[in-house]
Parts: sequence; structure tokens; C-alpha cells
Amino acid sequence: MHHMEDGTKQRTLSIVKPDGVGKGVIGEVVRRFEKEGIRIVAMRMLRLSRKQAEGFYAVHRERPFFASLTDFMSSGPIVAMVLEGDDVIARNRKIMGATDPAKADKGTIRADFAGSIEQNIVHGSDAPDTAVTEIRYFFSELDIVS
Ligand code: CMP
Repeated sequence: MHHMEDGTKQRTLSIVKPDGVGKGVIGEVVRRFEKEGIRIVAMRMLRLSRKQAEGFYAVHRERPFFASLTDFMSSGPIVAMVLEGDDVIARNRKIMGATDPAKADKGTIRADFAGSIEQNIVHGSDAPDTAVTEIRYFFSELDIVS
């Protein structure tokens, strides 16, 4: 019984990147989450400093694109959100599509709006442990509605 409640409720961090804010697709991104029954339980707009962008993407420090990525991520406002729902980490990744928009499935956010592998409109946590770390980077537990 109660099979409808068997899914594991997860949280993930979503970011509408500076290109997404600039292209005016904040609402479209939010709509795609809500349409899938994903709940937004925290949201804020902010502009990262270069140092804050470097801190967020610290795992990519050694990558050749790190300087360019952190420059881009600090180039304008972003919208950070906490998404909640069953299996929401994987579901969000499916809605976003592959990192490289050229490889992203039709109808995904990145296939529809992204200009390049770097300027790819949205970020989403890739696993439960990174989701916890990334949510904490932007939100206190008190900011998240229950
Ligand atoms: P994101 O999901 O935020 O995670 C890391 C980001 O680095 C990624 O999206 C892209 O914005 C960027 N990125 C990943 N791979 C490359 C690449 N090969 N060249 C440039 N930027 C990249």
C-alpha cells in the first residue's frame, strides 16, 4: 500500500545563469519545472562576484574553461532556486538536457535556448551530495519553505 509515496523526496539546486536572465527566460524555466510538478521551495536573484563564482565551481578549478566559466557566471544576475520532489535531481537534469546544447535532447531547456556548452542557460546539481553543498552555498535552512 501507499505505493504513491514510495518515491524518495529530494532537493536540488537550480540556477538560471546570466545568459538565461539576459534572454528573458526565467519564467519559461520556472514554467517547465512547475509543469512537471516540481515544487520551488526557495528562490533568490543575486549577482555573484568572481570569487563567489570560483567558490561555487571549485570542483572545476583545474579545467581549462574555469576562468571563462567563472567570468561568465559573475557577468550578470542569476536566479538560484531550490527544487523539491521525488527524484528531482534526475528529473531536473532531464528537463535541462545535456551540458552541450548540440547534444541535448529536443524540447529540453538547453536545446531550446543555450548558445554554447559554457553559456547553457541553467545549472542543476548532479548528485545528492553536491545538491546539499550547492543549496547551502546560496540558502540557509530558514530560507527554504517546508
Ligand atoms: P554546469 O552544469 O553549470 O556545470 C559546469 C559548467 O561548466 C557547465 O554547466 C558549463 O557551463 C561549463 N562547461 C562544462 N564543460 C565545458 C566546456 N567543455 N567548455 C566550456 N564550458 C564548459
